[in-house]
Amino acid sequence: MTKTILTTSAGAPVADDDNSISVGPRGPLTYDNHYTFEKLAHFNRERIPERVVHARGTGAYGTFTLTKSLKDLTIADFLQNEGKRTEVFVRFSTVGGGQDSHDYARDPRGFAVKFYTKQGNYDMVGNNTPVFFLRDPSKFPDFIHSQKKNPRTNVPDPRMAYEFWANYPQALHQVTILMSDRGIPASYRNMNGYSSHTYSFWNDKGERFWFKWHFKTNQGIKTLRAEEAAVADPHGAQQDLVEAIDRGDFPSWTAKIQIMTEQQARDAEINPFDLTKVWPHDEFPLVEVGQLELNRNVDNYFAETEQAAFAPSNFVPGISSSPDKMLQGRLLAYQDAHRYRVGVNYNQLPVNAAKCPVNHYQRDGAMAGLSPAGGNHHQTSGANYFPNDRDNAPKPDTSVAEPAMPVEAGAWLDRFDTGQDDHYTQAGNLFRIMSEDQKQQLADNIAGGLGQCDASIQQRMLAQFEKADPDYAARVAAALKA
Ligand code: NDP
Ligand code: HEM
Repeated sequence: MTKTILTTSAGAPVADDDNSISVGPRGPLTYDNHYTFEKLAHFNRERIPERVVHARGTGAYGTFTLTKSLKDLTIADFLQNEGKRTEVFVRFSTVGGGQDSHDYARDPRGFAVKFYTKQGNYDMVGNNTPVFFLRDPSKFPDFIHSQKKNPRTNVPDPRMAYEFWANYPQALHQVTILMSDRGIPASYRNMNGYSSHTYSFWNDKGERFWFKWHFKTNQGIKTLRAEEAAVADPHGAQQDLVEAIDRGDFPSWTAKIQIMTEQQARDAEINPFDLTKVWPHDEFPLVEVGQLELNRNVDNYFAETEQAAFAPSNFVPGISSSPDKMLQGRLLAYQDAHRYRVGVNYNQLPVNAAKCPVNHYQRDGAMAGLSPAGGNHHQTSGANYFPNDRDNAPKPDTSVAEPAMPVEAGAWLDRFDTGQDDHYTQAGNLFRIMSEDQKQQLADNIAGGLGQCDASIQQRMLAQFEKADPDYAARVAAALKA
């Protein structure tokens, strides 16, 4: 067996790891214990800030295989040829709790996919729900505060959540999903993933199409009832995923998209860029395009999963944003979080580094390194300005220019809500497709938290349920009484 020698972080062999240098066997330590101090000092710096949301998560590597060419819609390299396989890193998470919270909280689940394409990394940073509570990014901090711990008691407080929702009826659709039986997935393998937002594809003719991602679990939807979640193992979802992959039972999802043309978007009754609404399947059918499979666990949780940096702004040629206001807020928020949480050169870490050449004129900063992945050109001592006279200097490629994005003709710059105040029809549609048991679980789950709120909050919530469906309100009212 090869002998592995313990070393300092600078590589020098260590003779004794148990005994610091002291003045005699019972004496105090001396100033030359730099090795002990190195250990203590590094230990003091082991933690980085946890994600302000989605702090608790689990990641794994895998493959995305294209089963239908999307050439007509997009020039994205990884979506051209059927059978094309692209390596991915996926991280699942809960949203509101900290790193040491519970895997089985009633909470949306994050579903973030990093595609390592030949044209750079493309990140689909979605959730297990097709909509969200809000449609303007300015409300995100307020909403998240209402979901996290009470600032005085440091304990989660359902009164805060319902106080926000009672004042913000646009959240009702997502509240209905969250409080439904799907609010607590039995495992990360048993839930769907959605981009939720509308994004755009553009093709080689410069045509733009709006689209949404849907990743449908091939393991089937499985959920926990509130009483099952209350006694579930706090690490159960993480353990389930790691063990399934270790035993070769690779979880997979069928990737589908919904597509809308620019004309359809102009004609659509609902605002197709409103994150509180879905595109009904009968009008915008799901088109199957690929398979996502997870087949390799991380070697080191901190280095890979914790330092992974997903950003909705990580687009590749052929894929871009949309006028969705929430998405636009997110395009700025994530890299800012990564610089704070991981450091300015976060894209040089192996889990984040593109698996294609990276050439730019950014230099230096904390932990700047050379070529994290073979062939990259980070931080060389070549020209660090552009334009320059050097051979092989990185230059922009006009062939990947995105077509202009249409905006409303003659629109004024001001603060607008979308003007669409129907927060109820789609929430009601969901209620109406639920089975008897699902409707009852929904009512009971809501009553659990709403029952702790004052009468004014209860009445405003009941008024919202009434507008979605009178039976929805009647069931919650009955559950509150019970
Ligand atoms: P459809 O009947 O075609 O689709 C209903 C969808 O609801 C299915 O995708 C189903 O997912 C999903 N679903 C079933 N139960 C729940 C639940 N408890 N929580 C979340 N999703 C659930 O109808 P429409 O397209 O007209 O949509 C009707 C309602 O369904 C919407 O208002 C929305 O609330 C919900 N929905 C719609 C989606 C969409 O993109 N159109 C996507 C997901 C939900 P599955 O196939 O996995 O069982
Ligand atoms: C994580 C902000 C809405 C999905 C995060 C993080 C921030 C953030 C700051 C932590 C990033 C990090 O430290 O790495 C916001 C803002 C939003 C918003 C400002 C609205 C304006 C959404 C929506 C979705 C979503 C609508 C889903 C459709 C996620 C996911 C993660 C995340 C999945 C975790 C990514 C990972 O696994 O590392 N968000 N978010 N967020 N967000 Fe959002």
